[in-house]
Amino acid sequence: MSADSVMLRVDSLIKDFGALRATNDVSFDVRKGEIVGLIGPNGAGKTTITNLVTGALSKTSGRVFLRGEDISGLKPFEIARKGLARTFQVVKPLQGMTVAENVLVGALFGRDGRKRDVASAAARTEEILSQVGLEKKKDFPVGAITLPDLKRMEFARVLAMEPEVVFLDEVMAGLNPVEVSEAGELVKRLRTEKNLTIVYIEHIMKAVMDISDRIIVLHHGEKISEGTPKEVVNDRRVVEAYLGKRYAGKCEI
Ligand SMILES: Nc1ncnc2c1ncn2[C@@H]1O[C@H](COP(=O)(O)OP(=O)(O)OP(=O)(O)O)[C@@H](O)[C@H]1O
Ligand SMILES: [Mg+2]
Repeated sequence: MSADSVMLRVDSLIKDFGALRATNDVSFDVRKGEIVGLIGPNGAGKTTITNLVTGALSKTSGRVFLRGEDISGLKPFEIARKGLARTFQVVKPLQGMTVAENVLVGALFGRDGRKRDVASAAARTEEILSQVGLEKKKDFPVGAITLPDLKRMEFARVLAMEPEVVFLDEVMAGLNPVEVSEAGELVKRLRTEKNLTIVYIEHIMKAVMDISDRIIVLHHGEKISEGTPKEVVNDRRVVEAYLGKRYAGKCEI
C-alpha cells in the first residue's frame, strides 16, 4: 500500500469505560475511495471506534491520522471541518423542522472554516436532496417520513457538510431487504459521484458484503479479522464470533 493513498489511519486505539475495555488496541488504514465495512456483533466496539475517530469520545490511548495529519485530541467540529463526518446510529432529526431544513443545517456548516451564505447552502441542500432521492419530500416535517427516508436524510445532512471521509453507523438498521439493497446502491453511487471514502458500520454481515471493498471485523473490542468480504466470511474466528464455537466450520454466514 502506498503511504499517500492512506486517507485515514487508526493507530492502536484503546478506550476504557471504567473496568470495561470497549476498544482494545485497534489499528487499521482506510485508503482513498475505499468502502471499508466495519462489522462485529452487538457491543463489539464499532460505535466506540466511530466516537473516538470523530472526537466525540476521548481516547484512553492511541492516535488517529487524517491524510497523514494527527487529528487525535481535536474537537468534533474541528475534525468535521477537516472533512471527516459521521452519521448517528440513532437518528436524531431536528423535530419541528422539515426535511430540507434538517439538511440545510449541514449545508450551513462551513468546511475548512469557510463561511457559507444561506442562498448557496439552500442551493446545495436542493442538489443533495435530489441526489439521495428525497426531493419530493423536502417540505415534509421530519415526523412524517419513514425510517428509510430518515436514514437518507441523515446521509444527506452529512453529505451537505462536504466531507471526504464518512462514517456511516448502521444506516441500514430497521430496513427491510429491498430497502437495504437500495441503500447499498445509493452509498456506492454517492461514493463515486462525491469522491468519498466510506467506513460502513453494520452488525448484519450480509448488508456489507455487497458494497465493501474490504472488511474489518471487531469482537469484544478487538480486531479479529481484516480482508476482502470473501476472506472474512471464510475466517474461522469470524464465524465463531457470530455463531459461537459450536457452529464454526459447520455453516456459512
Ligand atoms: N458511554 C459508555 N459507557 C460505558 N460503556 C459503554 C459506553 N459506550 C459503549 N459502552 C460499552 O462498550 C462496548 C462497545 O459498545 P459499542 O456501542 O461501541 O458497540 P457496537 O459495536 O457499536 O454495538 P451495536 O452493534 O450494538 O451498535 C459495549 O460493551 C458497550 O456496553
Ligand atoms: Mg453501535
